[in-house]
Amino acid sequence: MTSPIRTERHGDVLVIISDNPPVNALGQAVRAGLATGVEQALGDDSIRAVVIRCDGRTFFAGADITEFGKAPQSPSLPEALDKLEASDKPVVAAIHGTALGGGCEVALACHYRVAVPSAKIGLPEVKLGLIPGAAGTQRLPRLVGAEAALPLVAVGDPISAKKAQAIGLIDEIVGEDSLEADAIAFARSKIGQAVSRSSEGTANEDGIRNPDIFDQFRAQNGRKMRGFDAPNAAVAAVKAAGELSYADGVKKERELFMQLMNGTQSKAMRHYFFAERAANKINDVPADTPLIPINKVGVIGAGTMGGGIAMNFLSAGIPVTILEMQQEALDRGTSVIRKNYENTAKRGRMTMEQVEGAMGLLTSTLDYADLADCDLVIEAVYENMDVKKQVFAKLDEVVKQGAILASNTSYLNVDEIATATQRPGYVLGLHFFSPANVMKLLEIVRGANTRDDVLATSMKLAKKIGKVAAVSGVCPGFIGNRMLSQRQAQANKLIMEGANYWDVDDVLLEFGFPMGPFQMGDLAGIDIGWHRDPSKVTTVREALCAAGRFGQKNGKGFYDYDEARNRTPSDEVKQIIADFAAREGNAQRDISKDEIRERLLYPMVNEGAKILEEKMAQRASDIDVVWINGYGWPLYTGGPMFWATTVGLDAVVAGLEKHGLPASHYLRQKADAGNGFD
Ligand code: 3HC
Repeated sequence: MTSPIRTERHGDVLVIISDNPPVNALGQAVRAGLATGVEQALGDDSIRAVVIRCDGRTFFAGADITEFGKAPQSPSLPEALDKLEASDKPVVAAIHGTALGGGCEVALACHYRVAVPSAKIGLPEVKLGLIPGAAGTQRLPRLVGAEAALPLVAVGDPISAKKAQAIGLIDEIVGEDSLEADAIAFARSKIGQAVSRSSEGTANEDGIRNPDIFDQFRAQNGRKMRGFDAPNAAVAAVKAAGELSYADGVKKERELFMQLMNGTQSKAMRHYFFAERAANKINDVPADTPLIPINKVGVIGAGTMGGGIAMNFLSAGIPVTILEMQQEALDRGTSVIRKNYENTAKRGRMTMEQVEGAMGLLTSTLDYADLADCDLVIEAVYENMDVKKQVFAKLDEVVKQGAILASNTSYLNVDEIATATQRPGYVLGLHFFSPANVMKLLEIVRGANTRDDVLATSMKLAKKIGKVAAVSGVCPGFIGNRMLSQRQAQANKLIMEGANYWDVDDVLLEFGFPMGPFQMGDLAGIDIGWHRDPSKVTTVREALCAAGRFGQKNGKGFYDYDEARNRTPSDEVKQIIADFAAREGNAQRDISKDEIRERLLYPMVNEGAKILEEKMAQRASDIDVVWINGYGWPLYTGGPMFWATTVGLDAVVAGLEKHGLPASHYLRQKADAGNGFD
C-alpha cells in the first residue's frame, strides 16, 4: 500500500504532505508517514526546516474516529508528535480548511503555525465525548493561556484563523492561494533560531495567578455542560496544565482521555457523529442524482412557523417571497422576522449590515401569482387537510413546472396532500421544528411518488441552511411526533394513576431532556385550543383552564411560578388531578421514578422499532438523529434507539411486559437476535 504521506524538497526545506481523503484523518499510515518524514528531515544535514501541509479540502481533521475502540496501532499520535516537536530544525504547520482535534494537536506540536484566512482551528473532541488525547490540553494552555484554551477545549467550537492569531495560536496568516510558498518562506525565516516549543510555553501561568477562571467558566457554561462528562474532564485537564509539570500533565490527560474513551457517553456520541452523516444519505437515491437549482423560495404563512422557515433561507442568502391572506398578518410576520434578526445583531452574532442584507432578500405578497417563479414553495398554514389541499391546488395552478412543492405538516398525510396537484412527484414534506430558525432538525417526508431529484435537492438544501435532515416515510406524526405521542400518552396515564406530575417532568429532566411534558405545557400555554367553557371539563388540561391556570403566562399552570419563572409544584393541581382521576374511576397508587422512566421511554423505543419494521425510517440511527435534534433527547445517550441497545433490548421488552405494555414483533425479534437494531 502506498503511504498517504509524501515529501517534496524545496531547497533546504522539506515539505511533508498528507493526501488522505476525504479529510486527512490521522490514521495509522498517516502517523507513521509523519514520523518517517520527520526522521528524513533530521537525518539529512542539507535540510534546515520542515513544512507540514495537506492536499485536498482540509488540513488534518483529527484522529481517525473509525480506529477508536480497536487495538491501538503504533506509532501513536502522541509518539509521532513528540518526535516532531523534539526536532531542532523549525517545523511549520501550513493550515487550510479545518485543523481539528488531532489535527490541531499536530499544529500545536509544530514550532510555528501559518494559516490561510479561511482556515478554522479547534479541538472538537468534547463533541465526541472525549478530550484531546495527544497533549492538546497541555500544549494549548502553555501556548495561549488557560483562559483562552478553556472554551476551545471544553466547548469545542472551532475558531477562525484571525481569532486564532489574536490569541497566539497562529503565528501568521498567509495568502489564500499561496499557502505552501508562504509557509516555506516563513520556515526559512526561522532557520538558525532556537525553535519555539508549545510544551515549554508559560502562558498557562494565568491559571495559577487567577485560579477562579475555572469555576467561573464552569458557572458560565453550566447549562451547556449539564449531564456531559467530557467538558468537566476538559476543564480539569486545562487546570492540570497549570498545576503539573508538562510530563505529569500529559499523564493526567491520558488518564482522563482513556476514562472517557471507555465510557458509554463517548461511544454514544461517536455513534451520533456517524448517524448524522448516514442520515444524509438516501439508500435508494443515487448520490449523483442531478439537483434542481433552488434560487428562490416561497413560504406560505407568515406566522411563527412560516417566518422561522423563511429566515433559514434568508440567512443562507436565498431570496424568499412570503405570502399571507391579510396585509396585517403579513406586516406582523415580516416585522417579527426583522426583530429576530435585530435581536441576533444585539447579541453580537450578526452585523446590522447582515440584517439589512437578509431583509433585502425578503419580498412579501398577498398574491399567489408572485410565487410563480419560485423553485421551492413551502406551505406553513393551519394544520387541516382541506386547507392544505386548497393551498396545494392553488400552487399547482400558479407555480412553474419543475418546482418543488413542500408541506410543513407535522402529522398529515403527504400523499393525500399531493393528490391536490397534477405533479405528485414534486410534492414532499419538509417538517421544520419550532422555532424553525433555531431548531436543527428537518424531517424530510418522502411521499409515495416523490421523485429522487426532489429528495436529493431537499437533502442538499437542508445542509446549506444548516439543518440536520432525516428522511421519514408517510405515517401519522412521521418519526418524531409518532414516537412523542407514545410518551405523551404514558405521561397522561401516569398522573391519572397517582404519579406526581413533577416526578414525570423530573424523570425526563434527570435523564437529560431540557424539560418534561407538563413544564412544556406551561411554557406553550395550557389554554391553547381551549373551548373556554369552564362547565365542560373532559381532560386535566381543561380542568386546569377552568381553574384559571393557563401556564407560565399568568404565573400558574401545572406549576406555580415566581417572578423569575422558577416553578413550584402546586397542591391545588395535584388535587385537581386526583379529583379528575377519581371521577374517571382511576385508583391512585405511589409510582416510583424507575417505573415512570420505563413507561415514558420504553414505548418510544417500541414505536421506533415499529417505524423500522414498516420502513418508515431508513435506519435506527436516523431515529436517533430526529430525537436528538428535534426533541432534546440527550446527545450523550446516543438517541433512543442507541440508548435502548445500551440498556439491552431484552431489558426493554421485559420492562414493557412488566408494565403491561405491548412489545412489537420487531422489537422482540431484535432482542432475541441480540445484535441491537442495525
Ligand atoms: N475520522 C474518520 N472519518 C472522518 C473524520 C474523522 N476524524 N472526520 C470526518 N470523517 C468522514 C465522515 O464520516 C464522512 O464520511 P462519509 O463520507 O463516509 O459519510 C467524510 O469524512 C466527510 O465528512 P463530512 O461529511 O463531515 O464532511 P464536511 O466537509 O461536512 O466536514 C469536517 C468536514 C469539518 C472535517 C467534519 O468531518 C468534522 O467535523 N470531522 C470530525 C472532526 C473531529 O471531531 N476531530 C476530532 C477527532 S477526535 C481526535 O482527534 C482525538 C485526538 O485528540 C487524539
